[in-house]
Amino acid sequence: MVAGPAQLQPIIELEARSFIPSDRFARATWRHLLGPARMRGSSLTLVALSGGHVVGALNALLRRDGHTARLYSLAVDPQERGRGIGGLLVRHLAKRLPPAFTVLSLEVRHDNAAARVLYERLGFTVFEHLPAYYPDGGDGVRLRASRAAVRRG
Ligand SMILES: CC(C)(COP(=O)(O)OP(=O)(O)OC[C@H]1O[C@@H](n2cnc3c(N)ncnc32)[C@H](O)[C@@H]1OP(=O)(O)O)[C@@H](O)C(=O)NCCC(=O)NCCS
Repeated sequence: MVAGPAQLQPIIELEARSFIPSDRFARATWRHLLGPARMRGSSLTLVALSGGHVVGALNALLRRDGHTARLYSLAVDPQERGRGIGGLLVRHLAKRLPPAFTVLSLEVRHDNAAARVLYERLGFTVFEHLPAYYPDGGDGVRLRASRAAVRRG
């Protein structure tokens, strides 16, 4: 489902279980993404629910260029991983985006094996290497996929 301000706290708790502190978004960032940015149509957040609880969350920024959606955050509860929830959220994004958005783009840590396996399976390929991209000096890669490929995946 599409998330709004009511999902702020569960998403923050999910992020705390999923990311090292420097990779988490500040509460103010999530508040903006779920509120004003969502209302403006520049941010789309999807959550996966199990038993009424948020077990997965994805945020995408819809760029002003009108055709690239940047997958900005993706997290699945550690206890629910490996069951396809991450893939489901990304494919759901590819279905829900406004029609003009034809490209998905994202950055991921070079050594994030689980995420890279998932993105590769969904049709993403390396677009750019990003040395020392993360605040702790970790390397990143920028991946891209056509929306059509992700929808088929
Ligand atoms: C990345 C993440 C969202 C994936 O969510 P998920 O629900 O487990 O994803 P899926 O079940 O759809 O797919 C996971 C794939 O990774 C594989 N995988 C899991 N752990 C792995 C590991 N350590 N090494 C290699 N592959 C791994 C699984 O086997 C699965 O692939 P398969 O379906 O071909 O078997 C989840 O691991 C997560 O929240 N990680 C922490 C936050 C994060 O790193 N987010 C991405 C930032 S860009």
